[in-house]
Amino acid sequence: MSCQGWKGKIITFARYISTRNKIRCFTNKGYSLMGDTSHSRAQGIYQRIVRSGLLHDSDTAYIFYSRQMLVERLNVLKQAFDSLAILHTVAIKTNPHPAVLSCIVEQGLGLEAASFEEVLLAVSAGAPFNKIVYNSPVKTRKELEYCAHHLPGICINANSIDELERIPSAESLKVGLRINPLVQPSTDMLYNVSREDSKFGVPIFLEEDILKAVFSGRISTIHIHVGSRIETPEILLEALQKTVRLCDKINTELKRAEKPFMLTGINFGGGLSALRNIEASNDLMTQYGKGVREIMINADFRYSLTNEFGQWVHLHNGFAYSRVEYVRSLKEKNIAFLHLGADFFPREIYSPHNALNFEFYTPNGETRSGVQGKTDLAGPLCFNGDYLSKDLEAPALSEGDIVAIPSVGANTFGLWSRHCSRTIPTFFSEKMDNPSEIENISSRFNPFVNLAD
Ligand SMILES: Cc1ncc(COP(=O)(O)O)c(C=O)c1O
Repeated sequence: MSCQGWKGKIITFARYISTRNKIRCFTNKGYSLMGDTSHSRAQGIYQRIVRSGLLHDSDTAYIFYSRQMLVERLNVLKQAFDSLAILHTVAIKTNPHPAVLSCIVEQGLGLEAASFEEVLLAVSAGAPFNKIVYNSPVKTRKELEYCAHHLPGICINANSIDELERIPSAESLKVGLRINPLVQPSTDMLYNVSREDSKFGVPIFLEEDILKAVFSGRISTIHIHVGSRIETPEILLEALQKTVRLCDKINTELKRAEKPFMLTGINFGGGLSALRNIEASNDLMTQYGKGVREIMINADFRYSLTNEFGQWVHLHNGFAYSRVEYVRSLKEKNIAFLHLGADFFPREIYSPHNALNFEFYTPNGETRSGVQGKTDLAGPLCFNGDYLSKDLEAPALSEGDIVAIPSVGANTFGLWSRHCSRTIPTFFSEKMDNPSEIENISSRFNPFVNLAD
């Protein structure tokens, strides 16, 4: 046997020893065993859903979103920034489920809307108007008029100086200007919005233009958001530091000119990534909070803060489950056909930088263990790229088994794709007044197809 062959055997044996008594997790970026707490919860949640009696045969795939875990995340967020004057808002786009939005509002937080439709979702969720931040890069004049007349207190951030001129002059509106602080986040190009050619914000080097805009007297807040999935706080803090310096400079000029207004707020956006492990994610936010506090203490003027995290808040709280519809073998491997694919996981499948993790259960919820060989997990859509994973070392699967995918609460449902017109699955959550019980928070639905159950 070749040296490579022996090495492989030793690694497999070591994995077997180290995983015997632990939950096994399979990832589409290779095998891994994680101490991820949301992962270890997936099986218990599955068993509870089955016991609840709420599943129908038509629920070929379904989502559990833990509002209990959401509340835990929000408490960590509040504690991380506790001595600051701050409005926490959560980016609606990351998970726009109405029950999730209502839960965020009930916890006293606000909502960040990236479209007029999201403004309406925030209003329906009960958000006070002064806790709604409206950030879309494309707002119509009619939508802006609506806000001025019907949503007093809402904060509208202009994406550019050109857009500022479209916002009605109304006392009822709080107006911000998005600037681009031009930092270099080490994140995927898709999520880096701080490049010089970014469509978002006024580049910070256009200081004269920004100053002139603020001198018009309409702007009270400066807004930044430099990118997403940023795994260390340094770049985010650098962006905030540059912004504070600019605001201090502008306020000094306003004071010198004896203007009756000042910049009073800084919205420092979202962007901090959730890490694989919940505890590590919490520590990261706490560390970020400390950095923000230090910058604000050293500012020349006092500013109230706003933030708008998305992925950090939601990632770990979501669990997806799909039935294995059937398995076929092809050459040396098996292909298991599932009911979730690029429709629910567009980011992971169309630009596969993100590992999905899998667990496999029998229909009764027992772990399917062992490694039977290479398996492809195929999604249900009719295009060749629709795989959740290829060549995964997985246990033997058969029709009716369950594939669980933990940590999928962010940028999944909110990006639901209409490709092949498949049906949005049922969502479950804990009951807010009795978390030991599960409830259906939305049944499967299809906007254009009438579903007979
Ligand atoms: C303006 C703005 N704020 C906040 C967010 C949330 O970002 P994240 O999920 O990275 O925290 C986004 C995401 O794209 C955004 O565009």
